[in-house]
Amino acid sequence: ASTLGASAAQSGRYFGAAIAAGKLSNSTYTGILNREFNSVTPENEMKWDATEPSQGSFNYSGGDRILSQGQSMGAKVRGHALLWYQQEPGWAQSMSGTALRNAMMNHVTQVATHYKGKIYAWDVVNEAFADGGSGGRRDSNLQRTGNDWIEAAFKAARAADPNAKLCYNDYNTDGVNAKSTGIYNMVKDFKARGVPIDCVGFQSHLGTSIPGDYQSNLQRFAALGVDVQITELDVAQGGNQANIYATVTRACLAVSRCTGITVWGIRDSDSWRTGENPLLFDNSGNKKAAYTSVLNALNAA
Ligand code: G3I
Repeated sequence: ASTLGASAAQSGRYFGAAIAAGKLSNSTYTGILNREFNSVTPENEMKWDATEPSQGSFNYSGGDRILSQGQSMGAKVRGHALLWYQQEPGWAQSMSGTALRNAMMNHVTQVATHYKGKIYAWDVVNEAFADGGSGGRRDSNLQRTGNDWIEAAFKAARAADPNAKLCYNDYNTDGVNAKSTGIYNMVKDFKARGVPIDCVGFQSHLGTSIPGDYQSNLQRFAALGVDVQITELDVAQGGNQANIYATVTRACLAVSRCTGITVWGIRDSDSWRTGENPLLFDNSGNKKAAYTSVLNALNAA
């Protein structure tokens, strides 16, 4: 097939992009979006600061805009993210203890209920594990409400939207390392105890190399009985960019429970990684070598 989405669909997968509501009036941007992708993720619009700017007062305008764009394309919509220690609204940043825990769970319930039946997969919890060698949780006000906050969030999300796949999402999990193993152990424990979890997202914000065990790391999670998804892919520009993109694509295709790939933006100028040119389309919207290598990898399967 001749587009990313149609090529991924040949194996029952999706190929998605993170999109911004404020860019949907740009015809170059929406032209590429409508042509190439069959999944969308809101880059910021469904986060806590956007959806609950003051406690108990919800604003779904940006998120709904992304949802309707996705629906108009017949695309899957990934929800991102119900709980994250960053982009907490100011009122939540200054909370702690039982009051914060109650606010967290109310947030999960309210947002997942608003989008009930419309979201393919939710990043229920984002980036809750520490970088480095500890394999443990990241310190945050969320974590200080008690170690069970993650399972409580997954249970609340399941109750609110039983048909959405519920994902844990993180970065620096691109191979077998202390952080990915900490997450692996949590997922294994959740599956053993019946805590609802359906998928693990591997953000895959990559530099100029990729760990040799990228695919086997995906596979070990899949073997626990969860789907895996590449959720925020971007790769530093350099001699290896096209090859690294192809390696990630082939790894997903080789893992039967890898259900799709999302790139974190459309054109290089849309990326949060300013100056790194990490995406598949240049600033003018032209296809880069990395685009062609992904398309070829999808069609070789
Ligand atoms: O909307 C305001 C605007 O009103 C204001 O004038 C402007 C001035 O700074 O800020 C705008 O908000 C910015 C927002 O992006 C929308 O552009 C925030 O400052 C900025 O912090 C925010 O950055 C986002 C970042 O998450 C926040 O941590 C990036 O767009 C987004 O790509 C990035 O995405 C994260 C994923 O959610 C989780 N994984 C890592 C990934 C990259 O950091």
